[in-house]
Amino acid sequence: MDKKLAIAVIAGTTRVQRESIKAAHYVAEVGRALPDVEIIFVDPKDFNLPGDGNDPEGKDPKYTDITARADAFFIVTPEYNHSFPGSLKRLLDSELENYIHKPVAIAGASNGSWGGVRGVEALVTSVREMGLVATFTSAYFPRVQDMFDETGKIKPDVEERTHKNVTGAYNELIWMAKTLGWGRQNLPRE
Ligand SMILES: Cc1cc2nc3c(=O)[nH]c(=O)nc-3n(C[C@H](O)[C@H](O)[C@H](O)COP(=O)(O)O)c2cc1C
Repeated sequence: MDKKLAIAVIAGTTRVQRESIKAAHYVAEVGRALPDVEIIFVDPKDFNLPGDGNDPEGKDPKYTDITARADAFFIVTPEYNHSFPGSLKRLLDSELENYIHKPVAIAGASNGSWGGVRGVEALVTSVREMGLVATFTSAYFPRVQDMFDETGKIKPDVEERTHKNVTGAYNELIWMAKTLGWGRQNLPRE
């Protein structure tokens, strides 16, 4: 491959005491260890998005640049009221054209045993309307508050299964990024 695949890992919430940020950093760390991959970490706290929508005044140029450069996205969302956080929706809504026919993997996090599965499923509906192509290998962080130590390092009892789960999600995402990247370059859009 001539250039590294740029994968934007997007954290899903701005909540001050957020636990899922540790899962997002872990997903980024696993990605950085993969060959020919560049990880761009996206924290919704770092963007200025006044108002709603994707008009020029409703965008943050920093996020526009990241979405233009990204070959793929990996969103790590907590589940809030059986869906995903409003701040994640606001960030995602601010762009459209830069997403079209690019793949997205989704990981869920929750403080219970389901791992945010309803947040993941709710997000699939929205990303499809944005032109993103959702992969079917999800990753889950159940009881996310117990999965990492105080330094953010994953605990040994959950490391193997989580690493396998996240790596599987990357494998499919990378395959999709290469396939869709070829398609965007070589096949005119209808
Ligand atoms: C507004 C709000 C709504 C929530 N709703 C759910 C829910 O529907 N299902 C669930 O399993 N956990 C729910 N949680 C708990 C989260 O799973 C928990 O906070 C977990 O640590 C991940 O979110 P965090 O990154 O904000 O910490 C909710 C948390 C908040 C703040």
